[in-house]
Order: sequence, then C-alpha cells, then structure tokens
Amino acid sequence: MNIAIIGYGGVGKAFVALLEKQTELLEKENLHINIRYIIGRNGDIYNNEISVCDAAADPALDLAVILTPTNKDSGQPGLNYARTFLSAGKHVVTADKGLVIHGYHELKQLAKEKGVQFTLGCTTGGALPSINGGIMDMAGSEICSIEGTLNGTSNYILQQMEDCGCTYKEALAAAQKDGIAEANPALDVEGWDTAGKLLILCNVLMHTNKTLDDIEVQGITHLTPEDIKAASEDGCKYKLVGRAVKQDKDIQLTVKAEKVPLQHLLYQVDGKNKAVRYVSDTLGELVIMGGASGTTPAAASVLRDIVNIHRGYQF
Ligand code: HSE
Repeated sequence: MNIAIIGYGGVGKAFVALLEKQTELLEKENLHINIRYIIGRNGDIYNNEISVCDAAADPALDLAVILTPTNKDSGQPGLNYARTFLSAGKHVVTADKGLVIHGYHELKQLAKEKGVQFTLGCTTGGALPSINGGIMDMAGSEICSIEGTLNGTSNYILQQMEDCGCTYKEALAAAQKDGIAEANPALDVEGWDTAGKLLILCNVLMHTNKTLDDIEVQGITHLTPEDIKAASEDGCKYKLVGRAVKQDKDIQLTVKAEKVPLQHLLYQVDGKNKAVRYVSDTLGELVIMGGASGTTPAAASVLRDIVNIHRGYQF
C-alpha cells in the first residue's frame, strides 16, 4: 500500500516509527506499507518538491494519512487536503478533529461516490475505540445518549488535584512537566477538545448535523482545591463529562465538570484514561474504557484504521 503522510508533528513522527516497529506484524496481514510522500510544513519536510495536489494525482498512491493540527474554527487546511485526496479516489485516514467537525457528512459522501474509505478512528479519544466501536458494534441500533470522559489532560489534572490537594495551576504545571499537557492546553482544559470529540460522536452515531455552537461548553479551570475536597467528602469526584442526550425531538449537548458518585462508571476513569458510554434502544448500554494516551497510541489508532481498510472493512 502506497501512502502519503500530510502533517509531520508528534503523531506523524510516531506513526513513521510505528510502521518500522510493526513491520513483521503487518507482514502477517500481508500488508506492506510504503511511505511515498511525507508533506510537512516545517524543518522536517521529507519531500518538499511535492505538493498535496501532486501527491493526490499520483496514480500509484492508495491512501493519505492526514495529521494536520486541529483547527476548530474552520477545519483548515486539513479539510481541503481531505477533499483533494478523496476527489482523486484515495482513501483518507485522519487524526485531525477540525476537518471532521467541519466536513464529516460532505467527506463521507465524497468517499462513497469515489468508492474509497474515509476513517477517523483517532479523532475521538485516540486509542479508545469509541467511534469505530459505535459505527460497527452499535450498527442497527439507535443510540439514545452518549456520555464520556474524553480528554486525558483534564482527567489527569483533576486526579492530581485530588491526590495532592493542589490548585488547578499547580496540577497543570505538573501535567506539563510530565509531558501530558501541551504547552498551550487551552483546548483541553476549557472543554473544547471534549466538545469536538462529542460533536463527532454525535454527528456520526446519532446522525445529526450539529456544530460546536450547539454545545454548552465549560472546562475545569474554575475548580478549586476546596471544590475537589468537598466532592471527595461527599464520596464523589469531578470529571469533565461530554454528554449528548435526546430530549423531545432534539439532542442536547453539554461539556462540563460534573461531580460523579462512586457508583458511576466514570468515577473509575483515572489519570490519562478515557471512557465512553452509549445507551441504545436495542443493544442496551455499552461502555468502552481505557486506551493509552500519547503520540504512539494516537499513531497506533491511525494504523488500526489502515489495517482495517486493508482487511476490507467498510466504515
Ligand atoms: N490533548 C488530548 C487529550 C488528546 O488530552 O486527551 C488529543 O485530543
């Protein structure tokens, strides 16, 4: 399989290393992945002679891995790149939430017309098989609600505050020191990363066409050590919860820090872990929990989609 990698940051580099590491395993699947192009925007450009349009026009290219950074406001530049590759009849696998938020239905339709796959397994929690689990294993059932702790950074910070009694700022500094939180963690701690993941899950699995403007979003930055202590004295923990719930004929979407009791499944989601719970009309409740965090697990979730395309699954 000849692939192009578009966007060469942390996940892109981890993905290239992972292909090398998993070569033997992939050979057992009879899958030989050949990196034909890496198109990045800074010093690590592998083949800067080639533009996205040239790569898409290459008849030998099978698949594009789009790893551009998430732009929650427009989805660009990843959205246009996805359009270019799908229009040229190439499979697209992406980790870029922005392009999915702004173009999911359009890109899915384009993929269908061209007879290729458009997959986004990395965008709703990386290693957590939330979106593909929902697509494949809730098929034929109506999902009535989605509830999840979908942001590893916030979850880690909340746990630090619980364990050490420290302030939000001290917990954030610890998370940055441990390489968990990014230098600019605004999207994570203000709830927008969770909102993006929730929106994708809702639009794909509940067949809606919502936007980020439809979500009431609150993060964790307002929580004090006193809030955390008071919750603990009540036998509860704060979790940043994304929720999509059917109400009348609409779906209400919220992201907020909620006090969850010991009996609640999200109580158990500690540290960098994530979880999602689907409630359906005919399959009952399904909970998916865990999945490692970081660039290698994110890269592995991209590879997982590629292997499944190779196996012939239709997403
Ligand atoms: N920064 C995110 C997290 C991973 O902490 O879960 C990318 O969505």
